[in-house]
Amino acid sequence: MTIKYLEIENFRGIAKGKIEGFTQLNILVGKNNSGKSTILEALAIALDPELLSEIIKRRGWYGLDTVLSIFRLRDDKKEIKISVDDRVTFIKRKISYAKDAEFLIKSYNFSEDMITLDSKTLKDERVEKHFRCYFDPEGKVHILHQTEPKLLSPNIIFIDSLSIYDKTPIDAYNSVFEHGYKAHERLIKVINTVYPEIKDIRLFSEKIGLEVIYEHGKVPFFAMGDGFKSAYIYLAYLMSIENGYILCEEPENYQHPSSRRLIVKGIVESAKRNQIFISTHSLELIDDILSEAENIDIKFFVPSLDENGILTYYSFDKEEAEFRRKELEADLRG
Ligand SMILES: Nc1ncnc2c1ncn2[C@@H]1O[C@H](COP(=O)(O)OP(=O)(O)O)[C@@H](O)[C@H]1O
Ligand SMILES: [Mg+2]
Repeated sequence: MTIKYLEIENFRGIAKGKIEGFTQLNILVGKNNSGKSTILEALAIALDPELLSEIIKRRGWYGLDTVLSIFRLRDDKKEIKISVDDRVTFIKRKISYAKDAEFLIKSYNFSEDMITLDSKTLKDERVEKHFRCYFDPEGKVHILHQTEPKLLSPNIIFIDSLSIYDKTPIDAYNSVFEHGYKAHERLIKVINTVYPEIKDIRLFSEKIGLEVIYEHGKVPFFAMGDGFKSAYIYLAYLMSIENGYILCEEPENYQHPSSRRLIVKGIVESAKRNQIFISTHSLELIDDILSEAENIDIKFFVPSLDENGILTYYSFDKEEAEFRRKELEADLRG
């Protein structure tokens, strides 16, 4: 269940590298361009190879070159290899099957140009999942030739600023309720640590949306502050899965200090039920996590990428983090 190990070859900026010793809550910390996001993206693909097209498009769509940019130095002759524990996924560029191309052009208005990627996941040398995805110049994607659509790790979410703005508060509310009232209660309990005056959050109507219940009255959710709203959606993502994996890209982005603390409380609560990986370059976020996380195992990983794309890192645990704070500060701000 808990991933311990990740190995990456030829993916984005990483020519080669491995990271070992993951625990419940893993914090990838480092300056810009040190490989943090690439590590999160590699984990996402390893856990659910079908996230590949989302991962490719998450930085935006810039034509077919966007697809090639996942290969290191755009060298699509070399395959990408991502391993976690005993499972390995290979991603290769392939020539499109003529009959697929014809079908996509006819049925989905694909243009003649397209890029085909082939993803194969093996476990103990047996194929667990195999599919091809086709990208056209407008960014339309189709997955064809799937092996039985078997979910390798059904419970995985990747949270970045885009996913926060993609989801409406009602979607967020409903995704929590998919896990029952207990999950909603946990969410309110987390909110109460920073906003004890909030009694509940409920669905008022499809038109008005959610409302926030105080002891002496109600406020429509849309009238709450922006920081609170995005923190609520973030918390809802964190509470919406169990026994799964959550990948959080720079949770500090666009957050006010009080909503940052709220999100940290949510991360710590969610880490009791899920394995979490966070990327950050915020010392403040790290301080918040250190002061909140008493009963969970935390490990920090500081990656760096050299000019040949070799990924190295050092790691340390919670106790050591207190001593290393100065060093981290120099690393982040230096
Ligand atoms: N296809 C690629 N080939 C070579 N280097 C790449 C490629 N894609 C991204 N990079 C490099 O990877 C680095 C960005 O990695 P990233 O994981 O986004 O960093 P971080 O999240 O730590 O800021 C940059 O130095 C960039 O030049
Ligand atoms: Mg990044």
